[in-house]
Amino acid sequence: MIKVGIIGCGIIAQAHAKGWAQIQMEGKAQVLATCDADRGRAGLVAEKLGADAVYDRWEDVLRSDVQAVDICLPHFLHRDAIVAAAEAGKHVMIEKPLCLSLKEAEDIREAKQKSGITIMCAHNQLFHPAVGHARKAIEEGRIGKVLSARTVDCFHISRTAEQWGWRAKVATAGGGCLIDTGYHPSYLLLYLVGARPMAVAAMNGNYAQPMIEGEDSANVLVRFEGGAVGNIFTSWAWDVPGSSWQFQVTGEKGQMYGRGSRFFFKPLKSEPIEESMTPVDAFEAEVAHFVACLEGGTRPLQTEEDGITVLKVILAAYESNQEQKVVQIT
Ligand SMILES: NC(=O)c1ccc[n+]([C@@H]2O[C@H](COP(=O)([O-])OP(=O)(O)OC[C@H]3O[C@@H](n4cnc5c(N)ncnc54)[C@H](O)[C@@H]3O)[C@@H](O)[C@H]2O)c1
Repeated sequence: MIKVGIIGCGIIAQAHAKGWAQIQMEGKAQVLATCDADRGRAGLVAEKLGADAVYDRWEDVLRSDVQAVDICLPHFLHRDAIVAAAEAGKHVMIEKPLCLSLKEAEDIREAKQKSGITIMCAHNQLFHPAVGHARKAIEEGRIGKVLSARTVDCFHISRTAEQWGWRAKVATAGGGCLIDTGYHPSYLLLYLVGARPMAVAAMNGNYAQPMIEGEDSANVLVRFEGGAVGNIFTSWAWDVPGSSWQFQVTGEKGQMYGRGSRFFFKPLKSEPIEESMTPVDAFEAEVAHFVACLEGGTRPLQTEEDGITVLKVILAAYESNQEQKVVQIT
């Protein structure tokens, strides 16, 4: 039975709480403490999960006898909370993005190495059945060598300045849509192509969200080792374009595309075939995976090292957009 604390009880913590409720029912974990600067929010999540302790400072969670923490804080607090958790010897599941700079990433890497904790990046879209299926199909060679890929996450947002909150400022969010919603298609692209990202070119814009400092849309090209080129397409200014899927991967022998639990395989010069799969709640699946990794001492699907690679692509995209040039990733 893994003892857990949840740090940050805002919007996404509600989705995680469903996952924790499920794993608690299975008797594999128990959330003992919740924490939010707004104690009322922490109290609501605690009530749902039967947690006894409600705090407004994460230091108190880290002093308690939880073994692991689920961090759902605003972006600018990720580094400090992860490093503090590592110093307290608590395993970490961290919402995206891992952190905001390569210096912060280095601090996290060092704290983890000193403490020996497990860090899992909560890249929930990798738990969509179609994504796992696609990765396996690519590894099995069904589309041959991967040549091109596109990943998409877009939705139109209408929010007040208050609702934008910490997301309105580059200092607290790290950017706009790309480092937030666009982080999903970024890790998804890297996961599906499965090669080292070498160079990035980006064109970002803000079309419909004057209340935020950062971009509300980004169109990013990534060249991978081996030659494949990927496209990350993300926006808070419009919904997913009609012809787009969550992912589309093209190889020498065909292509595959899908979204959530829908998956299509289209051999070259043939009609697409839908392969059926059972829908799952990706947040429940990621919580279950984290607990299983802690129980078994195994490596999570994505660790801080994967998070750092995603961050490198995103930071290179910001530099590319700013400098209007192709940026090499080292
Ligand atoms: N995986 C997804 O699909 C998804 C979706 C939304 C958000 N997220 C990620 O989840 C994280 C949180 O986003 P959100 O939308 O839930 O934000 P949010 O603003 O709704 O929640 C953040 C919470 O942290 C609390 N907080 C702020 N400072 C604190 C502090 N010092 N100590 C304790 N609590 C503090 C706030 O009171 C708030 O309740 C971000 O990293 C975001 O990118 C992921």
